[in-house]
Amino acid sequence: MIVLLAISVLFAAYLYYEFVGKRKKYPPGPPPLPLLGNLLQMDQTYPEKAFVEWGKKYGPIFTVWIPTPIVIINEYELMKETVIKQGDIFAGRPEMFIIDALLKGNYGLLFTRGQMWRENRRFALHVLRDFGVGRNQLHSQIMEQATELISNLHQQKAPINVRDYILFAVANVINTVTFGKVWKFGDPEIFKLKDRLERLSKESMGLGMLLLESFPFLRHLEPPLNIGLKRVMAVNNEIIDFLFEQINQHKEALDESQPPKDFTDAYLMEIRKRANGPDAEYFTEWQMMASVYDIWGAGFETTVATLQFAIIYLLNYPEVQRKLHEEMDGVIGREQELTMDDQKRLPYLCATIQEVQRASNVAPINFVRTTTEDIVVAGYLLRKGTNVIPQMPSVHLDDKLFPDPERFDPKRHLDKQRNFVKSDYVMPFSLGKRACMGESLARMELFLFLGTMVQKCEFQSVDKDAPPKIAVTPGFLRSPLPFECIVVPRY
Ligand code: HEM
Repeated sequence: MIVLLAISVLFAAYLYYEFVGKRKKYPPGPPPLPLLGNLLQMDQTYPEKAFVEWGKKYGPIFTVWIPTPIVIINEYELMKETVIKQGDIFAGRPEMFIIDALLKGNYGLLFTRGQMWRENRRFALHVLRDFGVGRNQLHSQIMEQATELISNLHQQKAPINVRDYILFAVANVINTVTFGKVWKFGDPEIFKLKDRLERLSKESMGLGMLLLESFPFLRHLEPPLNIGLKRVMAVNNEIIDFLFEQINQHKEALDESQPPKDFTDAYLMEIRKRANGPDAEYFTEWQMMASVYDIWGAGFETTVATLQFAIIYLLNYPEVQRKLHEEMDGVIGREQELTMDDQKRLPYLCATIQEVQRASNVAPINFVRTTTEDIVVAGYLLRKGTNVIPQMPSVHLDDKLFPDPERFDPKRHLDKQRNFVKSDYVMPFSLGKRACMGESLARMELFLFLGTMVQKCEFQSVDKDAPPKIAVTPGFLRSPLPFECIVVPRY
């Protein structure tokens, strides 16, 4: 009898903890299930929709368990008050099981923290600027890739998957920045790297990996469980080997009397410069490898996917493609090479790019930050170390800001005089101190690649009466499911 009573009391205590106790420390939100939290309440393919709905019910701040607790900031004004105005407090990153497993700790650019992150972010931005990002210096390298891309697209008579072509152009821009090398179109090396990055992204963001964050002991149960950690580690090791191969070649060829040719040269020089200083530990070969890993991981699929979305939207909204062609023919013509200055003269193209980024949400759930101090937000005390997400897709899909938000309509971003209006509410690169480091580079690529494709190509659906359906891959980085189209040259 006493044993039964004790079990009942323990069970009641467990239930109280699961359904009430553990939630007390956080702003209210959708009730989480034991173990799985709110994971099952989110559509795996369109998780951002759940956040929009929860926002309507719980307001601009709420907690979601996926399955660890994360405080969601779901409205622009509150994002401004917190992530921008109190930037330093929202600049932390969590310790994560998967990151420990992959990189032996918080290294690189995306997951580093504290002074190490600050020094490395400053250094990386500086190097990117030196190589012409944000200015026009990188322009000729991107345009070389755009020309190669168009020449390959023009040769295709049968229906193609444009992704296979776009990814070479984008990979070569990142490879120029990181390793100073351009691959030939079709080089199997790019396909190998692309496959590895795709596999890593798919495997490391599955349900199994999320469960490992809460229950790391599960790693000992593989097999018989099929969590995927072994597969993630295998592909991760292949990527690290590839990166170190490039780094070692750079070490052998490095001539410090010459200016650095790429990010890796610049980093090797920085390691040597700081070797005997107080912050030598922030600049090591491992940290350099992890930084290059992050530039590839954060900069490749996001850019390729955005360009793929642009093409599938053009196929589904032929009037948008027609207007883009009219604008291009009227202002630039079909011969002249685009420059970033042409943004001022091509408002409809700029509006289309902004609309593609708003509607596609290539990062449907933003990256997690961690508070670096206690802070009160909207009346809730968030303790130091609380996980927080500024959820930009909820702003992109807010029907008060963007009526009928599912509709793709570049006109939203034009004023009465048909000038382009850059919107504060479209934030694909996030905001605050942890905002995307590659924003300037990505903006150059989106404008020059999409602009040149529109200038030189017409994209047609394979079935004239049925454009490819806009369906997307599930996961934390989104791209359209494979689709084919016909490319007609515009000479
Ligand atoms: C269309 C293309 C891109 C999109 C939509 C995008 C989006 C994002 C987002 C949403 C974040 C997370 C910000 C946060 O934590 O709140 C991020 C971080 C980051 N991105 Fe991008 N990105 C793009 C291209 C690039 C490129 C080309 C690079 C290469 C230089 C890059 C490098 C990074 C890095 C290093 C971070 C981590 C920053 C930090 O934690 O301090 N991204 N990006």
